Amino acid sequence: MSHTDLASFLRQHQINGQPAPSELISLIEEVAATCVTISGLVAGGALTGVLGSRGVENVQGEVQKELDVLSNDLLLNNLEASPQLSAMASEEMEEIYPAKTRGPYLLLFDPLDGSSNIDINVSIGTIFSVLKAPGGAPDTQAFLQAGKHQVAAGYTVYGPQTMLVLTLGAGVFGFTLNPADGLWVLTAETMQIPADTQEFAINMSNMRHWAPPVRAYIDDCLAGKDGPRGKDFNMRWIAAMVADVHRIMCRGGVFMYPWDKREPDKAGKLRLMYEANPMSFLVEQAGGKSIAASAGRMLDVTPTGLHQRVPVILGSRNEVEKIESYGV
Ligand code: AHG
Ligand code: MN
Ligand code: MN
Repeated sequence: MSHTDLASFLRQHQINGQPAPSELISLIEEVAATCVTISGLVAGGALTGVLGSRGVENVQGEVQKELDVLSNDLLLNNLEASPQLSAMASEEMEEIYPAKTRGPYLLLFDPLDGSSNIDINVSIGTIFSVLKAPGGAPDTQAFLQAGKHQVAAGYTVYGPQTMLVLTLGAGVFGFTLNPADGLWVLTAETMQIPADTQEFAINMSNMRHWAPPVRAYIDDCLAGKDGPRGKDFNMRWIAAMVADVHRIMCRGGVFMYPWDKREPDKAGKLRLMYEANPMSFLVEQAGGKSIAASAGRMLDVTPTGLHQRVPVILGSRNEVEKIESYGV
């Protein structure tokens, strides 16, 4: 087992034959250090007072949990003075948050993904995305860049182990937190998603609200060996995108959160800038595929709003292409 920690990894890491920019390395280290703190709070549960709800709604119209707010505040407070940053944007805040300096990068995050899992001791995580700051005073428009322009993306999963999964555009690398010394140790190099799978992740309770192509695809999976797919499928749904995507990173599968007719004017539940884009960058870097349903490649979607929602279909390449063939 290698004992390369995150700092040494980043200093050796090459992107197209070049070392990673030192400002980007510092920024990732700062985000990762904050996630160590969040991980400590999560692990303490009731002992650290992080369970329960604030009883207020965020900009997404969702009731904020205590840990949503604490994680958001930790990221803001720890990073606002970062010389690497020009501004931040968060799922939990209506407006962008200018940093104290005009550094070269913009940081976007879902500070706590999988909020409904917090109080029941099931995996949750933090998702982040890094874009180049276009220069000048930061404004919302500066953030509205297609996902293909991300220079880094990653997530942490606070589960049986705390892990950080990261890309700087040259492969995907996994690190496990050693709680004894707070170091992230490289434990998974160049993670690859198998092209084929017999496992899907979707919230089946929404079946009656799905569009017909989604229904047709899942019906064919459920028909198993005797159906048109000629093989049995397994299903998983953790209700935290980080945990579902992490499983797919480790053993393949597809994850779907499609449009449905519960709220027909919403394109989907998940957010393009804080969830879909960073995860799609990681998935593509691991050889998988990610689409915004019929709108095509997720990373090509031009954002129109900071809190824009999208339908999400991602995971094992051949299976995502199969889903596309149903006309989703
Ligand atoms: P968040 O906790 O950041 O609001 O995100 C939750 C998201 C995503 O992580 C998960 O896949 C999905 O919501 C679960 O939705 P359902 O409760 O509708 O299954
Ligand atoms: Mn989320
Ligand atoms: Mn969240």
